Amino acid sequence: MKLAATGRAVRFAWIKRSGIDLRCKTRNWIGGGQYQRRNQSTNQHAPRIPALEIDGKSYTEDGWTNVSPSILSYLPRKLHLQPSHPVSITRQVIESNFPSPTYTHYNDLHPIVTVAENFDSLGFPKDHPGRSRTDTYYINRDTVLRTHTSAHEAQIFRDNKSEGYTISADVYRRDAIDRSHYPVFHQMEGARMWDRRKVPGGDVARAIWTDFERLPKHGLSIEDANPTTHPERNPLQAEHHSPGEVEAIAAHLKKSLEGVVVGLFSRAQKAAVAAGHADAAALEPLKVRWIEAYFPFTSPSWELEVLWQGDWLELLGCGVTKQDVLINAGVPDQIGWAFGVGLERVAMLLFSIPDIRLFWSKDPRFLDQFSVGENINAFVPFSKYPECYKDVSFWLRSSSSSAGGGMRSNAQDFHENDVMEIVRDVGSDLVEDVRLVDDFVHPVSRRKSLCYRINYRSLERTLRNEEVNQMHESVRKHLVERLGVELR
Ligand code: DAH
Repeated sequence: MKLAATGRAVRFAWIKRSGIDLRCKTRNWIGGGQYQRRNQSTNQHAPRIPALEIDGKSYTEDGWTNVSPSILSYLPRKLHLQPSHPVSITRQVIESNFPSPTYTHYNDLHPIVTVAENFDSLGFPKDHPGRSRTDTYYINRDTVLRTHTSAHEAQIFRDNKSEGYTISADVYRRDAIDRSHYPVFHQMEGARMWDRRKVPGGDVARAIWTDFERLPKHGLSIEDANPTTHPERNPLQAEHHSPGEVEAIAAHLKKSLEGVVVGLFSRAQKAAVAAGHADAAALEPLKVRWIEAYFPFTSPSWELEVLWQGDWLELLGCGVTKQDVLINAGVPDQIGWAFGVGLERVAMLLFSIPDIRLFWSKDPRFLDQFSVGENINAFVPFSKYPECYKDVSFWLRSSSSSAGGGMRSNAQDFHENDVMEIVRDVGSDLVEDVRLVDDFVHPVSRRKSLCYRINYRSLERTLRNEEVNQMHESVRKHLVERLGVELR
């Protein structure tokens, strides 16, 4: 995908979508159009720096820009705030475990953040793969669509309004296309801090254990095989925390999050039974396990998995907040924990939702199945419409080829997510999944060939042959124009 700004005058168009203004260059990305630059300026020689205007703010474009109008059109949707939407119901059920005034709930933070907020403030190494343009949507070199709710951690620690908080929000990642991945999804972040200067007698571990005792009891079956810290696999931040403090933080963290699981899955089991879905496994007592994990901004870190209908499912990530994050946020005397959970992931399990695209559906046959409040009921699929597979095969450019005028996608810099993005721009929610089905290197020319299978299927209607053919033709054309590949 070549999105580099050129510094030439460009035409701006206002795209108004439900309350948000997306002011974009008139590049016709979607629906098979041409990439266009038009000079609309009355003064043809006036230099103009290409800019994106989003929600009344202007962002300069540069060689890092890789957002398209189609991805920006999701900004106003905010499914986590839409009453009676499964993502919003899931949010509310989790939030109810974190009552105010101990916890402040932040649910309307803007999705455009700085690279410093999204990565640097959390200690992501400079070469972390999450920073690459193939994984993250860049507005420009310094600005991204947040890839996780943790992007707001440092600022909220700095604001220091309450001892704890949750943040729920839409997050954006360039990714595969299948029934459980979507470039926009929702996360909830939570954290709880204790201030060494404010606890009685300065004994922070004791204060945490006192709060631990106040957490609701549960009868969950828990596997937790590892020690709280491990020198190599899950280290104590020895400069900042005593082992006793970390034991207390870990205990409070784990019990709080086990409470979240009990709240969610006891409701889900009831719904499964009510819908007659429950097999023997669903009726078994809930089981969870803690496993060691790694995140740049916590240590020690864990993931929580839940046994759901016979499989262990990873539910959330969490850990003891890195003290450097807190020091840099100006609250060096605080210590505590944080977690992050993907809301769609949980909602798919709770509501038996088989395809992540359904969350974005405006079809009343989907939306009307859910009710306001914290009720969980199993989704009843309205129909499964026919699928239509189409393959596209192409050669990548050999790395030595200079043809293509600086186009990317020779064998070295090709990234599958660029293919996914094109398919999404063209097919939107009419594509169910995209899979690599063949991959080989020509024995003589050494050129690499790839074949992707695109499964077109609407969740709402039967697609016409002609429209599938048109979409597929458009995907083929964009692969050539934007990636410089050679179709086979
Ligand atoms: N931000 C992490 C992610 O997107 C999730 C996460 C893990 C958040 C650990 C946290 C945490 O606050 O402590 O995968």
